[in-house]
Formats: sequence, structure tokens, C-alpha cells
Amino acid sequence: MSVPRSEYLSTVWKDGIFANRVLFITGGAGSIGSAQTRAMVHLGADACIIGRSVEKTENAAKEIAKVRNGARVIGIGNVDVRSYDSLKAAADRCVKELGSIDYVVAGAAGNFIAPIAGLSPNAFKAVIDIDTIGTFNTIKATMPYLVESAARNPNPNDGGTTGGRFVSTSATFHYTGMPLQSHVSAAKAAIDALMGSVALEYGPFGVTANSIAPGAIEGTEGMERLASSKLDPKMRTKGVPIGRWGSVRDIADATVYVFSDAGNYINGTTLVVDGAGWRRQGAA
Ligand code: HXC
Repeated sequence: MSVPRSEYLSTVWKDGIFANRVLFITGGAGSIGSAQTRAMVHLGADACIIGRSVEKTENAAKEIAKVRNGARVIGIGNVDVRSYDSLKAAADRCVKELGSIDYVVAGAAGNFIAPIAGLSPNAFKAVIDIDTIGTFNTIKATMPYLVESAARNPNPNDGGTTGGRFVSTSATFHYTGMPLQSHVSAAKAAIDALMGSVALEYGPFGVTANSIAPGAIEGTEGMERLASSKLDPKMRTKGVPIGRWGSVRDIADATVYVFSDAGNYINGTTLVVDGAGWRRQGAA
């Protein structure tokens, strides 16, 4: 059964706004990543989904392609973002098969709950490697294509561009500190810092680079790992001022916004999509 639009995209966006453009996304078969990809494909983009598991990645690509007649969505499995060479080969294949890379989401991430006392140096490094080094590798592998996209897509209205957009996936833990998440907090803080440098180095080429920081998002592998879905619903939303957990659609809509013409002047920043949850993070 196909996924209803209301689960991955609000009704405010116009069909076709991403026609003839290509999204390259790591972690695109995951819960948030597949919603981001569905939203972009629904609005006209073709997409290349990158993941470790061949089966999961190829199946996700097939499912997501169903959102729009004629959509081209390819799944490239067997790619670990910790390996620059495998990512570079995937980016090259994406351009060969789909023609370009215009938008990138660095969504691959690793997480588990562990106190510092229970984290081996290798466990800490595993998350830094997947999140931070993986994002750097994604930048390295795709940035030449994003520069080309920006050059091909000048914006006649403002003298800028409408292509060449990079979004990384952050979190809010490092704003306050978060017990049991030292590895993820450090990894995501580094990603935010990295986006600032990318924005400064590549802004002059018309490429933008931003982070999206999701809060507690319902139904994701991350939240399954961090908070049991069996918790009393009232307890689960306690602490989020807006009174609910986020949905994958909230993150997909934010991604569409940053990639769309409405987001052309957003560069080098973090868009927090968390209902202001981080402002009460850790409070009783
Ligand atoms: C302590 C742990 C551990 C745990 C693994 N390790 N799990 N230590 N507590 N629960 C340790 C291992 O013992 C090992 O250290 C080291 O971490 C690496 O483990 P491996 O299994 O060899 O690594 P690998 O196969 O590469 O797996 C990486 C992983 C795994 C991060 C550990 O969980 C993974 O692949 N995750 C990908 C999917 C995922 O996590 N998705 C959720 C993303 S959500 P030693 O010393 O024994 O060698 C997300 C949300 C962010 O990121 C926040 C949102 C609000």
C-alpha cells in the first residue's frame, strides 16, 4: 500500500518545483530519510538513495518511485559513509545514471544509549566516524557536482542560484548537554561547525550548506533507541512546549523549504525542527 501524502508532505508545496533535479541522500532508506526523499520525488525530483544494506536500499527506492509517475529513484547499497571511495563511486554513478546531483542530504547516522563509563574509545569513535566523518566524506564526494548544479541554475530574480544545496542532519543535544549521548552530542556539534565552513567556502560558488536539527520524531529508529514507544503518551510528549512529538513529515517539509526557492538565502545555519523541545531539554 502506498504511503499517503499527509505522512510525508504538507499540501502547501506546488507539484513540479523540483522537476529535472536530482537528490542524493545517505540514509535515504531510514524513517526520516525516506520521508525526505518521498517529498522531493513527489515534487518532481529524481533521487539516488545510499545505504549499507543492498536489500533495504533497493526496496526503499522501488517504493519511493511509486509516489510519482515517471520518477527515477535508484538505490545504491553496499555503501558505508565511513568509506570515501565507496561514496565517491556512488556519487559518480548517480550522475551517470540520473544526470546531475542538485541537492544532497547527509542523513546517515549511528546511535545507541550509553553512559561515558560504558563507552569504549572505539564506540565513541564509531559514532564520530559515521556522523561527522561520514558527513565530511559526503561533502567531498558531492561538492564538485553541487558547484556544477549552482553554475547551471542561476536565479534571474536575485542574482543567486537555485541549485547546489547541501543539508546535513544534526540534533539539539549539544545545546544543553545530554546524558547517555556524549558521542552523538559531540558528533552533531562537529557537523554544525562543518556546515559553517562549507557555507563560507562554497557560498561564493552559489552553493548553500545548512543543518536540520530534528527533535523527538515519532516512529523513527532513533527514538525507538532513545525512548520506548511503550511509554505513556503523556510522558512521551512531556517537555515539548508544542505538546506533541514531531513527525517525519515535519522534517521532510523543512527539507523541502531549505531546498526550494523560498530557502535560497538560508546558508550556514541550523534549522531546528523540534517544537522548542530543546529549550526544556533535561528539565523536570
Ligand atoms: C555501548 C556499544 C553499543 C551500546 C555498540 N557499541 N553498541 N557500546 N553501548 N549499546 C560499541 C561496540 O561494542 C564497539 O566497540 C563499537 O560500538 C562499534 O560497534 P560495531 O557494532 O562494531 O559497529 P558498527 O557495526 O559499525 O555499528 C555502528 C553502530 C550501530 C553505531 C554501533 O548501532 C549502527 O550501525 N547504527 C546505524 C543505525 C542507527 O544507529 N540508526 C539510528 C540513528 S538515530 P568495541 O570497543 O567493542 O569495539 C540518530 C538520532 C540522533 O542518530 C538523535 C536524534 C534526536
